[in-house]
Amino acid sequence: MEKSPCEVTWDTQLLLDIPLMDTQHEELINMINTLCQICEDSEKSTKSLSLYSQKTISLTNRHFSLEERIMLLLEYPELLEHRREHREFMKRVLGETNKFYSTGLYDPELFIQYLRDWALDHIQTFDKNLSAFISAKLKRA
Ligand SMILES: [Fe+2]
Ligand SMILES: [Fe+2]
Repeated sequence: MEKSPCEVTWDTQLLLDIPLMDTQHEELINMINTLCQICEDSEKSTKSLSLYSQKTISLTNRHFSLEERIMLLLEYPELLEHRREHREFMKRVLGETNKFYSTGLYDPELFIQYLRDWALDHIQTFDKNLSAFISAKLKRA
Protein backbone atom coordinates (compact mmCIF):
# COMPACT_ATOMS: atom_id res chain seq x y z
CA MET A 1 0.00 0.00 0.00
CA GLU A 2 1.29 3.48 -0.85
CA LYS A 3 2.32 5.66 2.04
CA SER A 4 -0.13 8.41 2.95
CA PRO A 5 1.33 11.93 3.51
CA CYS A 6 -0.18 11.99 6.97
CA GLU A 7 1.67 8.85 8.10
CA VAL A 8 4.45 9.05 10.65
CA THR A 9 7.77 7.34 10.13
CA TRP A 10 8.84 5.72 13.35
CA ASP A 11 12.41 6.78 14.06
CA THR A 12 14.94 6.96 16.85
CA GLN A 13 13.92 10.53 17.71
CA LEU A 14 10.78 9.03 19.19
CA LEU A 15 12.61 6.44 21.26
CA LEU A 16 12.80 7.16 24.99
CA ASP A 17 14.82 4.12 26.07
CA ILE A 18 12.05 2.89 28.33
CA PRO A 19 11.10 -0.30 26.45
CA LEU A 20 7.52 -0.61 27.68
CA MET A 21 6.73 3.01 26.81
CA ASP A 22 8.54 2.76 23.46
CA THR A 23 6.64 -0.39 22.47
CA GLN A 24 3.29 1.21 23.27
CA HIS A 25 4.23 4.45 21.47
CA GLU A 26 5.14 2.47 18.39
CA GLU A 27 1.80 0.62 18.56
CA LEU A 28 -0.01 3.94 18.83
CA ILE A 29 1.84 5.46 15.90
CA ASN A 30 1.10 2.33 13.83
CA MET A 31 -2.57 2.67 14.69
CA ILE A 32 -2.59 6.36 13.67
CA ASN A 33 -0.88 5.35 10.39
CA THR A 34 -3.63 2.80 9.78
CA LEU A 35 -6.22 5.55 10.29
CA CYS A 36 -4.29 7.74 7.78
CA GLN A 37 -4.41 4.92 5.23
CA ILE A 38 -8.14 4.41 5.72
CA CYS A 39 -8.66 8.15 5.11
CA GLU A 40 -6.59 8.05 1.95
CA ASP A 41 -8.67 5.22 0.58
CA SER A 42 -11.12 6.53 -2.00
CA GLU A 43 -13.79 4.20 -0.68
CA LYS A 44 -13.00 5.26 2.85
CA SER A 45 -15.30 3.19 4.97
CA THR A 46 -17.04 4.72 7.94
CA LYS A 47 -17.15 1.29 9.53
CA SER A 48 -13.39 0.78 9.49
CA LEU A 49 -12.80 4.40 10.54
CA SER A 50 -14.97 3.95 13.58
CA LEU A 51 -13.49 0.52 14.36
CA TYR A 52 -9.91 1.83 14.22
CA SER A 53 -10.83 5.00 16.11
CA GLN A 54 -12.20 2.81 18.91
CA LYS A 55 -9.04 0.68 18.86
CA THR A 56 -6.90 3.81 19.03
CA ILE A 57 -8.89 5.10 22.00
CA SER A 58 -8.54 1.88 23.96
CA LEU A 59 -4.84 1.57 23.17
CA THR A 60 -4.35 5.19 24.26
CA ASN A 61 -6.29 4.63 27.50
CA ARG A 62 -4.16 1.59 28.29
CA HIS A 63 -1.01 3.56 27.56
CA PHE A 64 -2.02 6.59 29.63
CA SER A 65 -2.84 4.41 32.59
CA LEU A 66 0.57 2.70 32.34
CA GLU A 67 2.37 6.08 32.39
CA GLU A 68 0.18 7.38 35.19
CA ARG A 69 0.85 4.26 37.30
CA ILE A 70 4.60 4.72 36.78
CA MET A 71 4.37 8.40 37.71
CA LEU A 72 2.44 7.59 40.91
CA LEU A 73 4.79 4.80 41.86
CA LEU A 74 7.90 6.93 41.37
CA GLU A 75 6.30 10.07 42.88
CA TYR A 76 6.97 11.99 39.71
CA PRO A 77 6.85 15.72 40.51
CA GLU A 78 5.15 16.62 37.20
CA LEU A 79 2.43 14.01 37.55
CA LEU A 80 -0.45 16.51 37.73
CA GLU A 81 0.51 18.46 34.59
CA HIS A 82 1.25 15.30 32.65
CA ARG A 83 -2.03 13.67 33.67
CA ARG A 84 -3.91 16.87 32.79
CA GLU A 85 -2.47 16.70 29.26
CA HIS A 86 -3.66 13.09 28.93
CA ARG A 87 -7.13 13.98 30.20
CA GLU A 88 -7.57 17.01 27.98
CA PHE A 89 -6.53 14.97 24.97
CA MET A 90 -8.97 12.18 25.84
CA LYS A 91 -11.77 14.72 26.36
CA ARG A 92 -11.19 16.16 22.91
CA VAL A 93 -10.95 12.71 21.31
CA LEU A 94 -14.17 11.53 22.96
CA GLY A 95 -15.89 14.80 22.00
CA GLU A 96 -14.94 14.34 18.35
CA THR A 97 -16.03 10.71 18.42
CA ASN A 98 -19.43 11.67 19.84
CA LYS A 99 -19.78 14.33 17.17
CA PHE A 100 -19.13 11.62 14.61
CA TYR A 101 -21.90 9.41 15.97
CA SER A 102 -24.47 12.07 16.79
CA THR A 103 -24.22 14.68 14.03
CA GLY A 104 -22.01 13.23 11.32
CA LEU A 105 -20.23 16.62 11.40
CA TYR A 106 -16.79 15.21 11.57
CA ASP A 107 -13.75 15.68 9.44
CA PRO A 108 -11.66 12.49 9.73
CA GLU A 109 -8.58 14.04 8.07
CA LEU A 110 -8.49 16.93 10.52
CA PHE A 111 -9.12 14.64 13.45
CA ILE A 112 -6.35 12.21 12.50
CA GLN A 113 -3.93 15.08 11.91
CA TYR A 114 -4.74 16.27 15.40
CA LEU A 115 -4.08 12.77 16.83
CA ARG A 116 -0.79 12.53 14.98
CA ASP A 117 0.46 16.01 15.92
CA TRP A 118 -0.59 15.64 19.52
CA ALA A 119 1.10 12.23 19.86
CA LEU A 120 4.36 13.40 18.28
CA ASP A 121 4.50 16.55 20.38
CA HIS A 122 3.53 14.79 23.61
CA ILE A 123 6.10 12.00 23.19
CA GLN A 124 8.88 14.49 22.52
CA THR A 125 8.04 16.78 25.44
CA PHE A 126 6.01 15.36 28.34
CA ASP A 127 6.98 11.72 27.81
CA LYS A 128 10.60 12.58 27.17
CA ASN A 129 10.77 14.43 30.51
CA LEU A 130 9.16 11.46 32.22
CA SER A 131 11.60 9.01 30.65
CA ALA A 132 14.57 11.14 31.76
CA PHE A 133 13.20 11.05 35.31
CA ILE A 134 12.69 7.26 35.18
CA SER A 135 16.23 6.69 33.83
CA ALA A 136 17.73 8.87 36.57
CA LYS A 137 15.74 6.98 39.24
CA LEU A 138 16.85 3.62 37.83
CA LYS A 139 20.48 4.71 37.84
CA ARG A 140 20.23 5.71 41.50
CA ALA A 141 18.43 2.48 42.51
FE1 LIG B 1 2.22 10.80 28.39
FE1 LIG C 1 3.22 8.25 26.13
